[in-house]
Amino acid sequence: MPYNAILEVKDLSLATKHDQKLVNRVSFALGRGETLGLVGESGSGKSLTLRAILGLLPRGVEKAGGIIKSDAVSAMVFQDPRGSLDPLCPVVKQLTEVVRFRQQVSKKAARGIALELLEMLGLPDSIKIADRYPSQLSGGQCQRVVIAIALACKPGILLCDEPTTALDVTVQKQIIEKISALQKELGFAMVFVTHNLAVAAATCSKLCVMKNGEIVEQGDTLDVLQNPQNPYTQMLMDSVLPVPELEGSGRIWN
Ligand SMILES: Nc1ncnc2c1ncn2[C@@H]1O[C@H](COP(=O)(O)OP(=O)(O)O)[C@@H](O)[C@H]1O
Ligand SMILES: [Mg+2]
Repeated sequence: MPYNAILEVKDLSLATKHDQKLVNRVSFALGRGETLGLVGESGSGKSLTLRAILGLLPRGVEKAGGIIKSDAVSAMVFQDPRGSLDPLCPVVKQLTEVVRFRQQVSKKAARGIALELLEMLGLPDSIKIADRYPSQLSGGQCQRVVIAIALACKPGILLCDEPTTALDVTVQKQIIEKISALQKELGFAMVFVTHNLAVAAATCSKLCVMKNGEIVEQGDTLDVLQNPQNPYTQMLMDSVLPVPELEGSGRIWN
């Protein structure tokens, strides 16, 4: 693997059972502790690429070529936080079960670790004491629980699939800041999928721009954004709305 890579994706192709190409010869490498962004319009193959890394392709999609090399544990934070939790199970219990299974500890120890994780994610004590169901939590709180569940797997690589798209603008910023702080603390690498170039610029040191299942441009984030080589990258940048004077800086999270 190149330099100190924790993940290497080489010529990855994914296709339907009927041989329709969905992802075509995608290659990139991720260094330890590094964050790589996958950006591109809806349907460009970002989520499928993440799922291939996780080893969990949806039914009907198969690997058609290429290799994925990694010896690290990956965990995924999905786009729809409430939808990725079990609605019929209290959140502390869900988290405890993942801790118990992934860390092979007793039920009591698992609950302790689960509560520590919730604390780390900045969730209020009320969630820890009373057994709350996902429907009783806000979207942002659900996403914090989902991130805690991913961290319970002690991932070397955290795969984030548009983790804030379903959330309110103010909450989006808090969640991104929380993920970045946790990354500094725990040292995991990230592949971060977003269609928001401002979020990508704030989070990722490297960028891959995807279009129609292919990477059309990749490089250091600043280089790509300051000096885009591909017309599609330029178009993505041009499609960011100009900011009206009075709106302030909050707009970048839209
Ligand atoms: N289970 C599936 N079966 C067939 N095609 C799929 C399936 N999942 C996704 N696709 C297709 O693969 C392409 C890439 O999808 P996806 O990776 O979800 O895009 P993105 O995350 O960039 O929006 C799209 O054209 C989508 O319709
Ligand atoms: Mg997607």
